[in-house]
Amino acid sequence: MTNSASSDSLPIKGVLCYCRSGYEQNLAQELEQVCAQSDVFGYAKIIPQTGYVYFSLFTPASLSALNAKIQFSQLMFARQLVWVFEYIQVLDRSDRLVQIQTVCADLLPAEFLAKTAVVESADTEDGKELAKFCRKFSVPLRQMLRQHDWLYRSKSKQPIVGITLHAFFEHGSAVYLGVTLPNNRSAHENGIYRLKFPQDAPSRSTLKLEEAINTFLTPTQQKELLHADATAVDLGACPGGWTYQLVQRKMHVEAVDNGAMDEALMATGLVTYAPADGFKYQPQYGKVDWLVCDMIEQPNRVAQLMAQWLVDGWATNAIFNLKLPMKQRFTAMQNAQVEIEKQLKQAGISFTWQAKHLYHNRDEVTVCIITTP
Ligand SMILES: C[S@@+](CC[C@H](N)C(=O)[O-])C[C@H]1O[C@@H](n2cnc3c(N)ncnc32)[C@H](O)[C@@H]1O
Repeated sequence: MTNSASSDSLPIKGVLCYCRSGYEQNLAQELEQVCAQSDVFGYAKIIPQTGYVYFSLFTPASLSALNAKIQFSQLMFARQLVWVFEYIQVLDRSDRLVQIQTVCADLLPAEFLAKTAVVESADTEDGKELAKFCRKFSVPLRQMLRQHDWLYRSKSKQPIVGITLHAFFEHGSAVYLGVTLPNNRSAHENGIYRLKFPQDAPSRSTLKLEEAINTFLTPTQQKELLHADATAVDLGACPGGWTYQLVQRKMHVEAVDNGAMDEALMATGLVTYAPADGFKYQPQYGKVDWLVCDMIEQPNRVAQLMAQWLVDGWATNAIFNLKLPMKQRFTAMQNAQVEIEKQLKQAGISFTWQAKHLYHNRDEVTVCIITTP
Protein backbone atom coordinates (compact mmCIF):
# COMPACT_ATOMS: atom_id res chain seq x y z
CA MET A 1 0.00 0.00 0.00
CA THR A 2 1.43 3.39 -0.91
CA ASN A 3 -1.46 5.70 0.11
CA SER A 4 -0.37 8.09 -2.63
CA ALA A 5 -3.72 9.90 -2.57
CA SER A 6 -3.23 11.10 1.00
CA SER A 7 0.41 12.01 0.30
CA ASP A 8 -0.73 14.44 -2.39
CA SER A 9 -1.67 16.84 0.35
CA LEU A 10 1.89 16.86 1.70
CA PRO A 11 3.11 20.39 0.92
CA ILE A 12 6.56 20.33 -0.64
CA LYS A 13 8.92 23.20 0.12
CA GLY A 14 11.87 22.31 -2.06
CA VAL A 15 13.71 19.87 -4.27
CA LEU A 16 16.87 18.19 -3.05
CA CYS A 17 19.23 16.58 -5.53
CA TYR A 18 22.43 14.70 -4.77
CA CYS A 19 25.40 14.92 -7.14
CA ARG A 20 29.14 14.31 -7.33
CA SER A 21 31.04 16.77 -5.16
CA GLY A 22 32.23 19.65 -7.38
CA TYR A 23 29.19 19.45 -9.67
CA GLU A 24 26.87 21.61 -7.57
CA GLN A 25 27.05 24.58 -9.95
CA ASN A 26 26.27 22.41 -12.99
CA LEU A 27 23.37 20.71 -11.22
CA ALA A 28 21.97 24.02 -9.96
CA GLN A 29 22.02 25.46 -13.48
CA GLU A 30 20.25 22.41 -14.81
CA LEU A 31 17.70 22.31 -11.98
CA GLU A 32 16.88 25.99 -12.39
CA GLN A 33 16.32 25.53 -16.10
CA VAL A 34 14.21 22.39 -15.77
CA CYS A 35 12.10 23.98 -13.01
CA ALA A 36 11.59 27.22 -14.96
CA GLN A 37 10.49 25.26 -18.04
CA SER A 38 7.94 23.44 -15.87
CA ASP A 39 6.63 26.60 -14.17
CA VAL A 40 8.15 25.58 -10.86
CA PHE A 41 9.49 28.77 -9.31
CA GLY A 42 12.23 29.14 -6.74
CA TYR A 43 15.99 29.41 -6.47
CA ALA A 44 18.89 27.00 -6.05
CA LYS A 45 21.00 27.09 -2.90
CA ILE A 46 24.55 25.99 -3.63
CA ILE A 47 27.34 25.26 -1.22
CA PRO A 48 30.40 24.17 -3.24
CA GLN A 49 31.85 20.68 -2.68
CA THR A 50 28.88 19.47 -0.62
CA GLY A 51 27.54 16.89 -3.09
CA TYR A 52 23.98 18.23 -3.20
CA VAL A 53 21.86 21.18 -4.32
CA TYR A 54 18.65 22.40 -2.69
CA PHE A 55 16.10 24.20 -4.85
CA SER A 56 13.84 26.20 -2.55
CA LEU A 57 10.32 26.81 -3.88
CA PHE A 58 8.85 30.31 -3.57
CA THR A 59 5.49 28.71 -2.69
CA PRO A 60 4.96 25.18 -1.38
CA ALA A 61 3.46 22.89 -4.02
CA SER A 62 1.65 19.57 -3.96
CA LEU A 63 3.67 16.41 -4.24
CA SER A 64 1.71 15.01 -7.17
CA ALA A 65 1.94 18.25 -9.17
CA LEU A 66 5.68 18.46 -8.76
CA ASN A 67 6.19 14.79 -9.41
CA ALA A 68 4.30 15.11 -12.68
CA LYS A 69 6.33 18.15 -13.76
CA ILE A 70 9.91 17.21 -12.97
CA GLN A 71 11.41 13.91 -13.99
CA PHE A 72 14.54 12.47 -12.40
CA SER A 73 15.58 11.06 -15.78
CA GLN A 74 15.67 14.62 -17.19
CA LEU A 75 18.33 15.69 -14.73
CA MET A 76 21.77 14.73 -16.04
CA PHE A 77 23.73 15.80 -13.00
CA ALA A 78 21.33 14.51 -10.32
CA ARG A 79 21.94 11.21 -8.58
CA GLN A 80 18.73 11.44 -6.58
CA LEU A 81 15.59 13.60 -6.51
CA VAL A 82 13.92 14.14 -3.13
CA TRP A 83 10.77 16.20 -2.52
CA VAL A 84 11.51 18.05 0.72
CA PHE A 85 8.69 18.83 3.16
CA GLU A 86 10.91 20.31 5.89
CA TYR A 87 14.44 21.42 6.56
CA ILE A 88 15.36 21.38 10.23
CA GLN A 89 18.31 23.71 10.50
CA VAL A 90 19.12 23.37 14.19
CA LEU A 91 18.69 19.94 15.64
CA ASP A 92 19.34 19.41 19.30
CA ARG A 93 21.99 16.68 19.08
CA SER A 94 20.81 15.11 22.33
CA ASP A 95 17.29 14.60 21.00
CA ARG A 96 17.16 14.71 17.22
CA LEU A 97 14.47 12.08 17.06
CA VAL A 98 11.91 14.09 19.04
CA GLN A 99 12.32 17.13 16.78
CA ILE A 100 11.89 15.00 13.67
CA GLN A 101 8.84 13.34 15.20
CA THR A 102 7.28 16.74 15.98
CA VAL A 103 7.79 17.93 12.41
CA CYS A 104 6.32 14.71 11.01
CA ALA A 105 3.30 15.00 13.32
CA ASP A 106 2.75 18.58 12.14
CA LEU A 107 3.22 18.00 8.42
CA LEU A 108 2.53 14.43 7.37
CA PRO A 109 -1.06 14.04 6.18
CA ALA A 110 -3.37 11.62 7.97
CA GLU A 111 -2.98 8.12 6.49
CA PHE A 112 0.55 8.89 5.29
CA LEU A 113 2.39 5.60 5.05
CA ALA A 114 5.89 5.21 3.65
CA LYS A 115 7.00 1.85 2.38
CA THR A 116 10.61 2.45 3.44
CA ALA A 117 12.67 5.06 5.28
CA VAL A 118 16.34 5.85 4.70
CA VAL A 119 18.88 8.05 6.45
CA GLU A 120 21.46 9.52 4.11
CA SER A 121 24.38 11.93 3.88
CA ALA A 122 26.39 13.39 1.01
CA ASP A 123 29.01 11.47 -0.96
CA THR A 124 31.89 13.61 0.37
CA GLU A 125 34.63 13.07 2.95
CA ASP A 126 32.49 14.77 5.64
CA GLY A 127 29.45 12.83 4.44
CA LYS A 128 31.30 9.53 4.80
CA GLU A 129 32.03 10.36 8.46
CA LEU A 130 28.37 11.23 8.91
CA ALA A 131 27.31 7.97 7.21
CA LYS A 132 28.32 6.00 10.33
CA PHE A 133 25.92 8.07 12.42
CA CYS A 134 23.23 7.77 9.70
CA ARG A 135 23.43 3.98 9.78
CA LYS A 136 22.95 3.96 13.56
CA PHE A 137 20.23 6.59 13.49
CA SER A 138 18.15 4.71 10.92
CA VAL A 139 17.14 2.10 13.53
CA PRO A 140 15.46 4.45 16.08
CA LEU A 141 14.08 6.60 13.24
CA ARG A 142 12.31 3.63 11.68
CA GLN A 143 11.05 2.51 15.09
CA MET A 144 9.61 5.95 15.74
CA LEU A 145 8.00 6.10 12.29
CA ARG A 146 6.43 2.68 12.77
CA GLN A 147 5.10 3.59 16.21
CA HIS A 148 3.20 6.45 14.59
CA ASP A 149 2.05 4.34 11.63
CA TRP A 150 4.04 6.46 9.19
CA LEU A 151 6.12 3.48 8.07
CA TYR A 152 4.97 0.11 6.77
CA ARG A 153 5.48 -2.72 9.27
CA SER A 154 7.00 -5.75 7.68
CA LYS A 155 9.74 -8.13 8.66
CA SER A 156 10.56 -9.04 5.07
CA LYS A 157 13.22 -7.07 3.24
CA GLN A 158 11.39 -5.09 0.59
CA PRO A 159 12.76 -3.68 -2.63
CA ILE A 160 12.21 0.07 -2.77
CA VAL A 161 8.66 0.39 -4.08
CA GLY A 162 6.11 2.89 -2.90
CA ILE A 163 6.92 6.08 -1.06
CA THR A 164 10.30 6.31 0.63
CA LEU A 165 10.87 8.77 3.42
CA HIS A 166 14.36 10.30 3.32
CA ALA A 167 16.21 11.99 6.16
CA PHE A 168 19.24 13.60 4.54
CA PHE A 169 21.69 14.91 7.11
CA GLU A 170 23.54 17.99 5.95
CA HIS A 171 25.62 17.73 9.11
CA GLY A 172 24.96 16.42 12.60
CA SER A 173 22.57 19.25 13.45
CA ALA A 174 20.68 19.83 10.20
CA VAL A 175 18.43 17.50 8.26
CA TYR A 176 16.26 17.64 5.15
CA LEU A 177 13.10 15.54 5.48
CA GLY A 178 11.56 14.47 2.21
CA VAL A 179 10.04 11.72 0.13
CA THR A 180 10.74 10.01 -3.17
CA LEU A 181 8.23 8.26 -5.39
CA PRO A 182 8.54 5.15 -7.55
CA ASN A 183 9.50 5.69 -11.20
CA ASN A 184 10.91 9.10 -10.43
CA ARG A 185 14.04 8.47 -8.42
CA SER A 186 17.20 6.44 -8.24
CA ALA A 187 16.53 3.04 -6.69
CA HIS A 188 19.99 3.11 -5.09
CA GLU A 189 20.95 4.20 -1.60
CA ASN A 190 22.33 7.75 -1.76
CA GLY A 191 21.69 7.57 -5.50
CA ILE A 192 24.92 5.60 -5.86
CA TYR A 193 24.95 2.65 -8.22
CA ARG A 194 27.61 0.37 -6.74
CA LEU A 195 28.97 -2.35 -9.01
CA LYS A 196 31.52 -5.06 -8.43
CA PHE A 197 34.55 -4.84 -10.69
CA PRO A 198 34.78 -8.05 -12.77
CA GLN A 199 38.29 -9.40 -12.09
CA ASP A 200 38.88 -10.44 -15.70
CA ALA A 201 37.86 -7.07 -17.19
CA PRO A 202 40.77 -5.17 -18.78
CA SER A 203 39.99 -1.76 -17.23
CA ARG A 204 37.85 -0.10 -14.58
CA SER A 205 36.13 1.81 -17.41
CA THR A 206 34.09 -1.33 -17.89
CA LEU A 207 31.94 -0.22 -14.94
CA LYS A 208 30.91 2.93 -16.82
CA LEU A 209 29.35 0.94 -19.64
CA GLU A 210 27.82 -1.59 -17.25
CA GLU A 211 26.20 1.20 -15.25
CA ALA A 212 25.07 2.92 -18.47
CA ILE A 213 23.44 -0.24 -19.80
CA ASN A 214 21.62 -0.87 -16.52
CA THR A 215 20.61 2.77 -16.16
CA PHE A 216 19.39 3.46 -19.68
CA LEU A 217 18.02 0.10 -20.85
CA THR A 218 15.24 -1.85 -19.18
CA PRO A 219 15.85 -5.60 -18.73
CA THR A 220 13.56 -6.21 -21.73
CA GLN A 221 15.49 -3.74 -23.89
CA GLN A 222 18.75 -5.35 -22.84
CA LYS A 223 17.44 -8.74 -23.99
CA GLU A 224 16.15 -7.33 -27.26
CA LEU A 225 19.07 -5.08 -28.14
CA LEU A 226 22.19 -6.66 -26.62
CA HIS A 227 22.31 -10.31 -27.64
CA ALA A 228 24.48 -12.87 -29.41
CA ASP A 229 23.50 -11.75 -32.93
CA ALA A 230 24.03 -8.06 -32.20
CA THR A 231 27.03 -6.16 -33.52
CA ALA A 232 28.93 -3.11 -32.32
CA VAL A 233 31.77 -0.73 -33.07
CA ASP A 234 33.76 0.51 -30.07
CA LEU A 235 35.66 3.74 -30.85
CA GLY A 236 38.56 4.39 -28.46
CA ALA A 237 38.32 0.79 -27.26
CA CYS A 238 41.76 0.20 -25.72
CA PRO A 239 42.40 -1.72 -23.47
CA GLY A 240 38.88 -3.10 -23.82
CA GLY A 241 36.68 -2.41 -20.78
CA TRP A 242 33.68 -1.42 -22.89
CA THR A 243 34.29 -4.16 -25.47
CA TYR A 244 34.40 -6.59 -22.51
CA GLN A 245 30.81 -5.68 -21.57
CA LEU A 246 29.61 -6.34 -25.11
CA VAL A 247 31.57 -9.57 -25.43
CA GLN A 248 30.08 -10.73 -22.11
CA ARG A 249 26.74 -10.45 -23.93
CA LYS A 250 28.23 -12.53 -26.80
CA MET A 251 28.15 -9.60 -29.22
CA HIS A 252 30.58 -9.16 -32.14
CA VAL A 253 32.67 -6.02 -31.75
CA GLU A 254 34.92 -3.99 -34.06
CA ALA A 255 37.37 -2.42 -31.60
CA VAL A 256 39.00 0.76 -32.91
CA ASP A 257 42.05 2.28 -31.21
CA ASN A 258 45.73 2.73 -31.93
CA GLY A 259 46.51 1.28 -28.51
CA ALA A 260 46.64 -2.47 -27.92
CA MET A 261 43.63 -4.54 -26.88
CA ASP A 262 43.52 -7.02 -24.01
CA GLU A 263 44.74 -10.42 -25.23
CA ALA A 264 42.09 -12.47 -23.44
CA LEU A 265 39.37 -10.41 -25.12
CA MET A 266 40.94 -10.95 -28.54
CA ALA A 267 41.12 -14.69 -27.81
CA THR A 268 37.32 -14.86 -27.53
CA GLY A 269 37.13 -14.61 -31.33
CA LEU A 270 34.34 -12.05 -30.98
CA VAL A 271 36.55 -8.99 -31.47
CA THR A 272 37.97 -7.55 -34.67
CA TYR A 273 40.74 -5.08 -33.91
CA ALA A 274 41.33 -1.99 -36.08
CA PRO A 275 44.32 0.23 -35.19
CA ALA A 276 42.74 3.33 -36.72
CA ASP A 277 41.56 6.89 -36.10
CA GLY A 278 38.02 6.75 -34.71
CA PHE A 279 37.09 9.88 -36.64
CA LYS A 280 37.93 8.20 -39.98
CA TYR A 281 36.82 4.63 -39.32
CA GLN A 282 33.83 3.15 -41.15
CA PRO A 283 32.09 -0.10 -40.14
CA GLN A 284 33.77 -2.98 -42.00
CA TYR A 285 30.84 -5.39 -42.19
CA GLY A 286 27.91 -3.07 -42.80
CA LYS A 287 25.57 -1.33 -40.37
CA VAL A 288 26.04 -2.20 -36.69
CA ASP A 289 23.42 -2.33 -33.95
CA TRP A 290 25.51 -0.29 -31.54
CA LEU A 291 28.12 2.42 -31.74
CA VAL A 292 29.91 2.91 -28.42
CA CYS A 293 32.56 5.56 -27.93
CA ASP A 294 34.81 6.53 -25.04
CA MET A 295 37.42 8.59 -26.94
CA ILE A 296 38.93 11.46 -24.98
CA GLU A 297 38.11 14.29 -27.38
CA GLN A 298 36.29 17.62 -27.60
CA PRO A 299 32.57 17.00 -26.83
CA ASN A 300 31.42 18.87 -29.93
CA ARG A 301 33.66 16.72 -32.17
CA VAL A 302 32.36 13.50 -30.60
CA ALA A 303 28.74 14.73 -30.80
CA GLN A 304 29.21 15.50 -34.48
CA LEU A 305 30.67 12.04 -35.10
CA MET A 306 27.84 10.26 -33.25
CA ALA A 307 25.23 12.19 -35.23
CA GLN A 308 26.99 11.35 -38.47
CA TRP A 309 27.04 7.58 -37.74
CA LEU A 310 23.33 7.56 -36.91
CA VAL A 311 22.29 9.80 -39.79
CA ASP A 312 24.41 7.88 -42.33
CA GLY A 313 22.83 4.64 -41.13
CA TRP A 314 26.13 3.10 -39.95
CA ALA A 315 24.71 2.37 -36.50
CA THR A 316 21.19 2.00 -35.07
CA ASN A 317 21.87 3.01 -31.46
CA ALA A 318 24.69 4.66 -29.57
CA ILE A 319 26.15 4.94 -26.10
CA PHE A 320 28.98 7.45 -25.76
CA ASN A 321 30.81 9.61 -23.30
CA LEU A 322 31.16 13.34 -23.72
CA LYS A 323 34.27 14.42 -21.81
CA LEU A 324 33.61 17.69 -20.02
CA PRO A 325 36.76 19.03 -18.42
CA MET A 326 35.56 22.65 -18.46
CA LYS A 327 33.49 24.62 -15.96
CA GLN A 328 30.55 25.12 -18.35
CA ARG A 329 29.61 21.46 -18.41
CA PHE A 330 25.88 22.03 -18.57
CA THR A 331 26.20 24.40 -21.52
CA ALA A 332 28.53 22.01 -23.35
CA MET A 333 26.02 19.20 -22.87
CA GLN A 334 23.15 21.35 -24.08
CA ASN A 335 25.09 22.34 -27.20
CA ALA A 336 25.89 18.70 -27.96
CA GLN A 337 22.27 17.67 -27.46
CA VAL A 338 20.90 20.46 -29.64
CA GLU A 339 23.33 19.59 -32.45
CA ILE A 340 22.66 15.84 -32.41
CA GLU A 341 18.89 16.24 -32.08
CA LYS A 342 18.81 18.74 -34.92
CA GLN A 343 20.64 16.37 -37.27
CA LEU A 344 18.54 13.33 -36.33
CA LYS A 345 15.29 15.26 -36.75
CA GLN A 346 16.39 16.63 -40.13
CA ALA A 347 17.10 13.05 -41.21
CA GLY A 348 13.61 12.00 -40.07
CA ILE A 349 14.97 9.64 -37.41
CA SER A 350 12.82 8.95 -34.31
CA PHE A 351 14.89 8.47 -31.21
CA THR A 352 15.11 8.70 -27.45
CA TRP A 353 17.88 10.70 -25.77
CA GLN A 354 19.04 9.91 -22.25
CA ALA A 355 22.07 11.43 -20.53
CA LYS A 356 23.49 10.96 -17.05
CA HIS A 357 26.55 11.82 -15.05
CA LEU A 358 26.92 8.26 -13.82
CA TYR A 359 28.47 7.30 -10.49
CA HIS A 360 31.43 5.64 -12.27
CA ASN A 361 32.00 8.63 -14.54
CA ARG A 362 34.63 11.26 -13.92
CA ASP A 363 34.43 14.53 -15.84
CA GLU A 364 32.16 13.09 -18.47
CA VAL A 365 28.48 12.49 -19.09
CA THR A 366 27.20 9.31 -20.74
CA VAL A 367 24.57 9.58 -23.46
CA CYS A 368 22.36 6.81 -24.83
CA ILE A 369 20.46 7.28 -28.09
CA ILE A 370 18.05 4.59 -29.18
CA THR A 371 16.45 5.03 -32.57
CA THR A 372 13.11 3.57 -33.47
CA PRO A 373 12.03 2.56 -36.99
C1 LIG B 1 39.32 6.42 -21.80
S1 LIG B 1 40.21 5.45 -22.90
C2 LIG B 1 39.06 4.22 -23.36
C3 LIG B 1 38.92 3.16 -22.34
C4 LIG B 1 38.05 2.03 -22.85
N1 LIG B 1 36.68 2.46 -23.07
C5 LIG B 1 38.03 0.89 -21.88
O1 LIG B 1 36.97 0.62 -21.32
O2 LIG B 1 39.04 0.25 -21.67
C6 LIG B 1 40.24 6.45 -24.33
C7 LIG B 1 40.85 5.77 -25.54
O3 LIG B 1 40.52 6.55 -26.67
C8 LIG B 1 41.55 6.41 -27.60
N2 LIG B 1 41.45 7.46 -28.58
C9 LIG B 1 41.54 8.80 -28.41
N3 LIG B 1 41.39 9.45 -29.57
C10 LIG B 1 41.20 8.49 -30.51
C11 LIG B 1 40.98 8.52 -31.90
N4 LIG B 1 40.94 9.66 -32.57
N5 LIG B 1 40.81 7.34 -32.54
C12 LIG B 1 40.84 6.16 -31.88
N6 LIG B 1 41.05 6.08 -30.55
C13 LIG B 1 41.22 7.23 -29.88
C14 LIG B 1 42.81 6.41 -26.74
O4 LIG B 1 43.87 5.76 -27.42
C15 LIG B 1 42.36 5.67 -25.50
O5 LIG B 1 42.73 4.32 -25.56
